Amino acid sequence: MTAETQPMSASSRELTIVIPTFQERDNVGPLVGLVREALPMISWEMIFVDDNSPDGTAEAVWEIGQSDFRVRCIKRIGRRGLSSACIEGMLATGATYVAVMDADLQHDPMLLRSMLNILRGDQVDLVIASRYMPGGSMGDWEVDRVRISTFATRLSRLIAKQPVSDPMSGYFMLRREVLESEVERLSSLGFKILLDIIASSPIPLRLAEVPLQFGKRYAGESKLSTAVAWEFLLLIGDKLVGRYVPVRFVAFSSVGVAGAFVHFAVLTAAFKVIGLSFPVSQAAAVIIAMIFNYSLNNILTYRDVSRKGWGWLRGLASFIVVCGLGAIANVGVASYLFGQQQTMWALAAIAGIFVGAVWNYAVSSRYTWGK
Ligand code: GDD
Ligand code: MN
Repeated sequence: MTAETQPMSASSRELTIVIPTFQERDNVGPLVGLVREALPMISWEMIFVDDNSPDGTAEAVWEIGQSDFRVRCIKRIGRRGLSSACIEGMLATGATYVAVMDADLQHDPMLLRSMLNILRGDQVDLVIASRYMPGGSMGDWEVDRVRISTFATRLSRLIAKQPVSDPMSGYFMLRREVLESEVERLSSLGFKILLDIIASSPIPLRLAEVPLQFGKRYAGESKLSTAVAWEFLLLIGDKLVGRYVPVRFVAFSSVGVAGAFVHFAVLTAAFKVIGLSFPVSQAAAVIIAMIFNYSLNNILTYRDVSRKGWGWLRGLASFIVVCGLGAIANVGVASYLFGQQQTMWALAAIAGIFVGAVWNYAVSSRYTWGK
């Protein structure tokens, strides 16, 4: 290792670059190469946070780390999530400044130096590489995605207390103390870690923006799916009402309402159309609605810990047990209230549903998804 590639190793670390990865093996080497070129004479390190990518991303990082100690990887097992990966990476360092960037070379590493220089001036807490300011650009995104992104940016103003041109950017750098001061307030849901950081800060942050020309992905594929829209809504919901109700409970209950419709659809089909007996039709409706609720909660409400393979089946079994007990609690509470002369039947039913829902949520969250 020459002095050129490992400068100031005895002095303190100035900059840590956190790179969340999932299936990015072929981008690791080129990215490290570009960062080395972009930051001569700066004491930096790169922490990749990989969610156990089957393509061997973590192994590719470790191999580079064997000869360059500035390059490390945290490998997470049984977890998914861009925001939580970024947070864990940022908490793994004591450096003065921390940057977050994508692994796929869509974020030009040459910007790191100008972002760092802005922070060094001590007038700014957080620098954002923005696609939506003069000099920035969206790259070759399709019209639809640009439109959705513009809409989401507008929606995000609901929770970002400050004007930011690109609150969805995945490329930014901040003083580590800023993160430290608010880490317990972060939602850490979904993809929008920057928006989370801005919205969770107890005091307005001093912001700066530099133009980003969003590049082309080098190797591999984007992980953004339609689910990001959902995760984005969860984040907005959490920031708006999370203080009063857990946003997961809201999601869980919405799934429950959808499940009730499924129940009635199946019941109507079996009882009225096919002409099965009522108990058989009702039983079929209960089972199908439970499977529906479980599957939907597994991919929406508990996306970050969703169960797969055999785990999916075991999860379903535990969910059925939990909801079975929830149904008993529901009927018990409703019948008890109905027995009190003053309670109207509809109110008794609502109370039963509420108790059942809270039970189902609390217990399945613990036992089915291990939260
Ligand atoms: N650890 C981990 N876990 N990393 C992930 C996960 C995950 O579940 N999902 C994605 N990543 C990593 C990818 O490997 C990549 O390094 C980075 O996060 C960004 O993912 P991409 O799949 O490349 O996202 P994109 O280019 O479509 O979206 C980018 O632009 C958006 C702007 O609208 C990202 O920067 C987004 O964060 C940004 O919001
Ligand atoms: Mn990308």
